[in-house]
Amino acid sequence: MPVWETLGPVTSRHAAPPMSASSGDALRKHGRLPAPSLEWNAEVERETAHLYARVKNVIPAVEWPFFAPTIKAINAVKQQRNAVILAHNYQTPEIYHCVADFVGDSLQLAREASRADADIIVQAGVHFMAETAKILNPAKTVLIPDLKAGCSLASSITGDDVRLLRERFPGVPIVTYVNTSAEVKAESDICCTSSNALQVVESLGAERVIMLPDEYLAKYVASQTKVKIIAWKGHCEVHERFTPEELRLVRANDPSVQIIAHPECPPEVIAEADFTGSTAHMIDFVRQHRPKRVVMVTECSMADNVAAELPDVEFVRPCNLCPHMKRITLQKILDSLLHMTEEVVVDPLIADKARRAVERMIHLKS
Ligand code: 13P
Ligand code: SF4
Repeated sequence: MPVWETLGPVTSRHAAPPMSASSGDALRKHGRLPAPSLEWNAEVERETAHLYARVKNVIPAVEWPFFAPTIKAINAVKQQRNAVILAHNYQTPEIYHCVADFVGDSLQLAREASRADADIIVQAGVHFMAETAKILNPAKTVLIPDLKAGCSLASSITGDDVRLLRERFPGVPIVTYVNTSAEVKAESDICCTSSNALQVVESLGAERVIMLPDEYLAKYVASQTKVKIIAWKGHCEVHERFTPEELRLVRANDPSVQIIAHPECPPEVIAEADFTGSTAHMIDFVRQHRPKRVVMVTECSMADNVAAELPDVEFVRPCNLCPHMKRITLQKILDSLLHMTEEVVVDPLIADKARRAVERMIHLKS
């Protein structure tokens, strides 16, 4: 059924809320490390050869000397620091395949964060992901290599907005997408990601549910359930740019092409797709079905990361870049590990409330 009601700001984006970080405590606790050599030589080439084998289909050999010394340095510093790197599926191949300890969609990263056995977690992703890792690991040091790595969905709603919604719809459960600040999570009953949104909504046994802040994800869930969904007018600035016309053009050129879309896309874009799912579900689809030609209607690095693994699949564009995800680079990851910047901090009272909503989602039976 269509969404029951959509509320929210007239414009789709607020100014990004201030993000919290402080490098002071982490630096005092773990100390600074000296900068390692970043020289390209035969030893670096030999020691990184097994990593180059993972990305040789997407990174030309001539470019490897620019990446390899930093990759080697990050992997050494990680061991020295007892740190792990969690990387989202939208990270570039040299991060995703060569320095990450765990990769995945938002749900997989939240799960990995909850079982992380390390002193330090570096989030190669955006701020809300790092905050989720901190909420689940209050005693650990969580770093984000660039504090400006935000998200248009997370900045479309505030804790005050959620409190007002609760007043307006007393007793109606509030589900928030993990793409939100800790304060918004703290005001919610349960979180969801794009891989479990329908399951979370239906788990509540309610006739009406408020689903925040992604209007298109809410519409996608509403199309598959009898639960009445009250949505918010937040949008992902990457997925809202796709159009049905560009997908129809691709299909007209090759009717056998498979089009797979993320549920943050507008409904008329999803209507053109053969499959819709979270980033992890999209990757699984390509691994299982091995289409000859496929369009991944999402962030560009997804296709690069899967192409590294499946050279027999042709990835057809369009794709769009997420400017926030692309703030994370190898050099910033190394600097973050050496200098303990930027440490993500969450007010403990907010973190305790937000943890309930995140853990309720993680512990949902699948
Ligand atoms: P996934 O949970 O599907 O990885 O989505 C996160 C995200 O930010 C997509 O834009
Ligand atoms: Fe946020 Fe969209 Fe970037 Fe994902 S792709 S982090 S939803 S802006």
